Amino acid sequence: MPSEEIKTYTLKEIAEHSSPDSLWLLIDNGVYDVSKFMDEHPGGPEPLFDWAGKDATDAFEDAGHSADARELMKSYRVGELSEDEQKEINKEKTSKKCFWIRTVLLPVGVLVTALLAYKLFVRFSK
Ligand code: HEM
Repeated sequence: MPSEEIKTYTLKEIAEHSSPDSLWLLIDNGVYDVSKFMDEHPGGPEPLFDWAGKDATDAFEDAGHSADARELMKSYRVGELSEDEQKEINKEKTSKKCFWIRTVLLPVGVLVTALLAYKLFVRFSK
């Protein structure tokens, strides 16, 4: 059985498809050609046009799409983002997460632990 090769595209190539005639979106590493879906999109053509040729992952998730929408989008998939750029995007996402852990979660955790330790110390030193 011949294996179907998955086409890969770079961010630059995806960005070249940002007109109503040829409108591509990048969603979660998948590349979608929604040129023929624009007029059928229940959310209207505007949100698709706003993200034409760009990474629409967050916008797609924020709109709270249903399981049916996720099933439907499969029929518009034309390929995926190049492996190198997938890695690059993953790296950026991980470093954003690390930033939040280092600057917010860790200091708050240390503060709460210190407060608890202080309270215990006061209670048992009476
Ligand atoms: C291949 C890509 C997409 C497909 C197949 C798709 C499909 C759908 C479908 C089927 C709905 C109806 C509600 C549901 O079943 O969830 C919907 C609603 C909607 N979509 Fe998309 N969509 C796509 C991309 C996007 C993008 C990139 C945005 C950007 C913000 C967007 C914004 C919206 C909005 C705002 C609604 C209306 C929500 C509401 O009024 O409740 N969609 N979409």
